[in-house]
Amino acid sequence: MSILIKNGRIISASDDYIADIYIEGETISAIGKDLDVKPDKVIDASGKLIFPGGIDPHVHLDMPFMGAFSSDDHETGTRAALFGGTTMVIDYAIQTRGDSLHSALKIWKGRANGKAYGDYSFHIAITDYNENVKAELQDIIEKEGITSFKTFMAYKGALMIDDKQMLGIMNEVKKYDGLVAVHATNGDMIEYLVEKYKSEGKLTPWYHYLSQPEITEAEATGRFVDLAYLSGVNSYVVHMTCEGALNKVREATVRNQKVLVETCPQYLLLDASLYKNGFEAAKWVMSPPLREKKDRETLWAGIKQGLIQSVGTDHCPFMWNDKLKGENDFTKIPNGAPGIEHRIELLYSEGVKKDRICLNKLIEVTSTNVAKIFGLFPQKGTIAVGSDADIVIFDPEEKHTISADTHHHRCDYSAYEGLEVTGKTKTVFLRGEVAIDNDEVKVGKGYGKFIKRGVPL
Ligand code: URP
Ligand code: ZN
Ligand code: ZN
Repeated sequence: MSILIKNGRIISASDDYIADIYIEGETISAIGKDLDVKPDKVIDASGKLIFPGGIDPHVHLDMPFMGAFSSDDHETGTRAALFGGTTMVIDYAIQTRGDSLHSALKIWKGRANGKAYGDYSFHIAITDYNENVKAELQDIIEKEGITSFKTFMAYKGALMIDDKQMLGIMNEVKKYDGLVAVHATNGDMIEYLVEKYKSEGKLTPWYHYLSQPEITEAEATGRFVDLAYLSGVNSYVVHMTCEGALNKVREATVRNQKVLVETCPQYLLLDASLYKNGFEAAKWVMSPPLREKKDRETLWAGIKQGLIQSVGTDHCPFMWNDKLKGENDFTKIPNGAPGIEHRIELLYSEGVKKDRICLNKLIEVTSTNVAKIFGLFPQKGTIAVGSDADIVIFDPEEKHTISADTHHHRCDYSAYEGLEVTGKTKTVFLRGEVAIDNDEVKVGKGYGKFIKRGVPL
């Protein structure tokens, strides 16, 4: 099958031009004007923007967590992602303590295989570092194509590792040029505050917010930055929320250290005033929590300054019934919020349209940089001859309102209910197939495939 997309305005991380794109099979075979080709199908994209398919570096699908499962699985989650122009996601396979990394990968691959609509890969979260795990890393990186590992400095007693384990992981991952990512908040400080509030009978979602103040994130980020410096590993801080944490990364640039940073739309757009909404605030109970308006400004500036390279959603939805488990105790509210569908539209509407970032930056942080950091470039993350034909046709003017009534997440509320956005994903190609067209999914369940990754560029 061959397709010609005509007259679209192609946006990459560095370019902005009008041209035609010729797709043959799964890849792009030509880009230019007046191409001498005989396509099976022609699509007119006049007046539309053309983006490379989005890659979401941070999602949790079908994840057992805090007594529940995240409510989108690989079927509904990757489908919702496609509706918003995200053609690939990188999910987290979490090692069960006492079990191997290979086993975690097998379990998560089993969850996704035959179900996903969009392409996918996994990071592996190492929760129990020991000699057996150490011996697995080379194979996982070089044979399995899993090149990034998440570590937790929080969730004490469940996922958290200590600094010695962190250094062990960093040292080993560095040998094979992989990357260590971190959930950087100080688990001991948080536990101290949680115990204090609980002993005082302070159990509403507001105290979730107060038990993870900015200093808990700044401290852990600084420590992670130092550990990464000592080991020399490729390092990446996930879901950064605040000024104090970003300043630790900024300071490290003085000694010529590069630490990669991800933030999320919720930290760019929402703030902690939402925790004043009684138990409804449980919708935004996530870790780290939403912050202050000054932090939002710092994060937008950090993207502009190149200190923040990627925007993931940390999509981790729970049905309201699961959130209710914490009605009388905020520590029992499953942490996480939905958002996989809205990342590109939110960043376009609130970022590009409001002059906070330019179109090229939008593509950088939602696709190109993610592909480079996670070993997918140039197969993915760009519109270029030879790359996968993962392409989004985007209407820059169409307005719509985000709502749980119309979103494609399997979640009975939205974190952005009632927000009007400008700009809409119209048509999405995934490896040369029309995957979404005018609000309808066109590929079948199971079309999405596991993509092996290389090391960071
Ligand atoms: O609250 C969150 N972020 N839930 C998902 C797990 C994590 O820490 O990323
Ligand atoms: Zn996390
Ligand atoms: Zn997460």
